[in-house]
Amino acid sequence: MKTFSRFVLSTALMGLPLVAVAQEVQPLPESVKLNDAKVELGKKLYFDKRLSKDNTVSCASCHDLSKGGTDQLPTSTGIGGQKGPINAPTVYNSSANFVQFWNGRAKDLAEQALGPVENPKEMGELWPNVITKIKADAEYTKAFGAVYGGKITKENAVDAIAEFEKSLITPNAPFDKYLRGDKKAISAKAEKGWKLFQEKGCNSCHEGNYFGGTAYQTLSEDYFKDRGGEITEADLGRYTVTKDEADKYSFKTPMLRNIAVTAPYFHDGSVKTLDEAVKKMAKYQLGEELKPEEVSAIVAFLKTLTGEYEGVPLDKVKAQ
Ligand code: HEC
Ligand code: HEC
Repeated sequence: MKTFSRFVLSTALMGLPLVAVAQEVQPLPESVKLNDAKVELGKKLYFDKRLSKDNTVSCASCHDLSKGGTDQLPTSTGIGGQKGPINAPTVYNSSANFVQFWNGRAKDLAEQALGPVENPKEMGELWPNVITKIKADAEYTKAFGAVYGGKITKENAVDAIAEFEKSLITPNAPFDKYLRGDKKAISAKAEKGWKLFQEKGCNSCHEGNYFGGTAYQTLSEDYFKDRGGEITEADLGRYTVTKDEADKYSFKTPMLRNIAVTAPYFHDGSVKTLDEAVKKMAKYQLGEELKPEEVSAIVAFLKTLTGEYEGVPLDKVKAQ
């Protein structure tokens, strides 16, 4: 596991003892301090189909808040029914990712939000046209007036969208309640799954309070051999950004918060169930065949990671 050793090395370079690596998992914060006017403006933009060329696709089309912040499709559908090359990750908690996109090509949410608008397979629009459409809308003129001194620019638009995304937090999962001391908040089976998750080493990659989103990790080449089909550009992961051979098949390790509501799984969306995802992870990333009862315990644990958005459990959030 070369990426893991890189992590160990960087820790050693920082002069920290290795025991410091195994940090405690903390419950997710229940609120964040944000600029409310910016959040409202960002929300309007997030749901606005005028950000796309034919006014049919919004951010929410592919990141539906009632579908775990995804489209629950193997790969996304953009304007004109075009199929994209890769699975849409959730926008919930995305502000906690160390970089954005599977291959980390955007450094933060604002930079990320610039991308889909001009991606020909997603929204297929040009930012100057979006700005023209927005300027013609009195509500936007007012909101940009209040928040950005009237400057209606793409930089300010993505800044507002990013602020809205920062509001997409999901506290109060059963596992958070368990971490806060309510031992009855999760089943004995899920508790066993949490133990297995650590014993088997899932948390060597899916680490931290979000169980991922902290580093790049390489998906085993055997995964691709067994999956079959051609190796696509999307499969190459981080390599497409760095052109460094060592980065082939390397991806931002996905967070596992709310994982039960974001099927299908993996960057190619080829894994339909959580059971299958857990089995494949053990096999390809840890070289281990899990027993069926181990798989079901880990899945029971992962299901306790489903939090709440504005007080509503994520699997019950209504479409808006
Ligand atoms: C046509 C579907 C589609 C639309 C429209 C779309 N996205 Fe995405 N989004 C995706 C896909 C697919 C990815 C993954 C792409 C990749 O990693 O290469 C993604 C990635 C992301 C990520 C990165 C999450 C992570 O874990 O790395 C964020 C955040 C995001 N989109 C927010 C937005 C916002 C904001 C908008 C509107 C401006 C938007 N998306 C529009 C499909 C879409
Ligand atoms: C060596 C690092 C590593 C280890 C160990 C690891 N994972 Fe992963 N995990 C990844 C990466 C990288 C991905 C993204 C795979 C992809 O893009 O197709 C992933 C994806 C996943 C997904 C799908 C996420 C999604 O949004 O599609 C699940 C579920 C998962 N892992 C669970 C586990 C479990 C459970 C274990 C332990 C049995 C485990 N992982 C061990 C690195 C790892």
